[in-house]
Amino acid sequence: MRKLYIFDTTLRDGEQSLGITLNVREKLDIARQLVRFGVDVIEAGFPASSPGDMEAVRTIAAEIKGAVICGLTRAVERDIDYCAEALRAAEAPRIHTGIAVSPVHMEKKLRLAPDQVVEAAVAAVKHAKRYVHDVEFYAEDAFRSDPAFLVRVLEKVIDAGATVVNIPDTVGYATPWEYGELISHVMHNVSNIHRAVVSIHCHNDLGMATANSLAGIKAGAGQVEGTINGIGERAGNTSLEEVVMAIYTQRERYGVDPGVNTREIAATSRLVARITGVPVPSHKAIVGANAFMHASGIHQDGVLKERDTYEIIDPEVVGIPKNRIVLSARSGRHALRHRLVELGYPLETDIDMLYQRFLQLADQKGEVYDDDLHALMGQNGANGSGICFKNLSVTTTGATTATATVTLELDGNTVTDAACGNGPVDAVFKAIDRLMGWSVKLEDYTLKSVSRGSEALGNATVKVRSGDNIAVVGRGVSIDVIEASARAYVNALAKVKGITTGR
Ligand code: KIV
Ligand code: ZN
Repeated sequence: MRKLYIFDTTLRDGEQSLGITLNVREKLDIARQLVRFGVDVIEAGFPASSPGDMEAVRTIAAEIKGAVICGLTRAVERDIDYCAEALRAAEAPRIHTGIAVSPVHMEKKLRLAPDQVVEAAVAAVKHAKRYVHDVEFYAEDAFRSDPAFLVRVLEKVIDAGATVVNIPDTVGYATPWEYGELISHVMHNVSNIHRAVVSIHCHNDLGMATANSLAGIKAGAGQVEGTINGIGERAGNTSLEEVVMAIYTQRERYGVDPGVNTREIAATSRLVARITGVPVPSHKAIVGANAFMHASGIHQDGVLKERDTYEIIDPEVVGIPKNRIVLSARSGRHALRHRLVELGYPLETDIDMLYQRFLQLADQKGEVYDDDLHALMGQNGANGSGICFKNLSVTTTGATTATATVTLELDGNTVTDAACGNGPVDAVFKAIDRLMGWSVKLEDYTLKSVSRGSEALGNATVKVRSGDNIAVVGRGVSIDVIEASARAYVNALAKVKGITTGR
């Protein structure tokens, strides 16, 4: 079996496309989980794109051990200098630089002749080599390039010192057989290809990113790039969990070993969904809520007789525990901690605050299921901002405006205010704005039930924007859906405050 390197770009191709500013702590949490999952490379961001990205890459480079930390650049000296600076403290730094190679990109976007593109590509790799040994070159829009020109560019950048060459299907235009053929063409025609690892990077515009990546791997690629849950630009990137499990289920067919810990897949997927606010569709392969559910009578009967009849993956292999313990108000801290660790939450700190929220929930609900615990964990993320939700009351007749009274704790002081609005959620958000003395633009608001039944927890997600560059996601859960909404809004404002005050 040859080693297949797993290159995760959730924090770059994934995050950048969402228009969401994940704070440094959120990015670190994702990076730590990616190391537990066992990815080889973490593309932490595009340092020259913003001070926030610079800071995130710098922090991840300094704190995360056990994976190559990579930063993206254009084939521009200034970008490369910024990237090298951000990666300075990394144990194993990689600069990912590149330029577009398709006719449409060269002519219309870059306005450069092919020879100039080759020159810029070589110069970028040489400049990056002044800082780090490990330089990956991306040939943007490679799938729509002239294969002969692609071969020429790749030979030149490998001669200039590129250790990895990335052949992206930037616009998600390929079909598996065509993409496999292109990778094969590169493997057989680039004379010095044995000196570099060939990497594949697919987008999902036609729903074929996973299939194209598998075709690329079969054709000899040594690294696959993608994101958790397939998040990313437009229709997203290749879902790494899908590629990993496709290989896991038919190892002999691919002859490669990704060397990751598949049991961390569910926890990684949940963390990314929770932090980015991008929900995983219930029918999504591998990580969707229904991926291992059997609804029809015939299927249930089959699975009960022999799991293999309708199930190709044992859910435990992707980290979905069979043992569904139900906690209640009688469960102690130890039981709560034990279950949370089993569910993939590494709890390094003391869980007192969490336990108090758990008891409140258990008192309201009676029984607390795994999904409730996931939701409970999902609303953390803005500690230290000095903003804390206390309580609220709302009056509404349905026919007229609603009135909400909200109490918050702001920097240690308990404060209360009231406001009217078009419905209870609007009134609550307005009361919170009054208390804060500043407001944000609400861009998105969703409310979902965590489990089934009328006593289920409500899980609210808001996306808010402050100024031009700060967009964050806030989450809140409660058995009372108005309270869940208030908690989500307060959570988002706390994150905005954290970003603007650097806390
Ligand atoms: O899709 C793409 O071409 C990219 C490159 C910048 C690697 O994301
Ligand atoms: Zn991409």
